[in-house]
Amino acid sequence: MSDFTIRPLASADIEQIKKLHATLVPVNYPPSFFLHLLIQNSYSCLIALEPSSGEPVAWVSASLHKSSNLIGSLEPHIQLLTLGVLPEYQHRGLAKRLVWEVIASLHKDPSTPVPTVYTHVCTSNTPAQAFYESIGMKFLPAPKSPSGKPYVAKNVYTYPPLWAQKSAVGNNELFESKDAYVLVGKITA
Ligand SMILES: CC(C)(COP(=O)(O)OP(=O)(O)OC[C@H]1O[C@@H](n2cnc3c(N)ncnc32)[C@H](O)[C@@H]1OP(=O)(O)O)[C@@H](O)C(=O)NCCC(=O)NCCS
Repeated sequence: MSDFTIRPLASADIEQIKKLHATLVPVNYPPSFFLHLLIQNSYSCLIALEPSSGEPVAWVSASLHKSSNLIGSLEPHIQLLTLGVLPEYQHRGLAKRLVWEVIASLHKDPSTPVPTVYTHVCTSNTPAQAFYESIGMKFLPAPKSPSGKPYVAKNVYTYPPLWAQKSAVGNNELFESKDAYVLVGKITA
């Protein structure tokens, strides 16, 4: 695992990262999304390079915000935006490492607490939900739900779906739903 190089996204990587998104996450992210990852100070995108080829095989993107109505926080927090690991490199702890490192990249002042992290996860994407739970995140409960039913954000995935194009690794069933759960937590390495 230590052989993989993790580094920030550079402009020369953009086309490859767009392709990785299209392969693993069948959501049509607009070009401005990738531009923000590259140029905005409050955004961070890290890529993992395969040791022998130097090709990107995984990435994570995240943004830092001052407060959040969604998770009811007046403190700075980090939103994980997108995350993916090519199937042949999954189950080696690469996503876990990328998430830790992207948090560290946005938490620049060590005298302040590590921000809470949250992310939207498609309600049909149970492997990703299991991943986020494994790193200590929990389902945000629905407001005033005595049974602790998870909150469901409706129609989060509103871009035209690409599953008509059949992504290379067949992740379409993971993204069948347009709705998302929200997972929240303090993540420490
Ligand atoms: C979700 C995803 C990023 C996980 O990547 P990964 O590098 O395989 O994850 P890790 O190896 O760091 O896994 C850490 C832990 O998460 C859990 N986990 C990971 N993948 C899992 C799966 N498919 N099913 C159940 N649990 C899983 C396990 O507890 C794992 O620990 P273990 O290996 O000791 O059992 C990867 O499966 C993926 O790219 N999926 C397609 C794209 C996607 O759904 N992205 C997220 C939404 S944008």
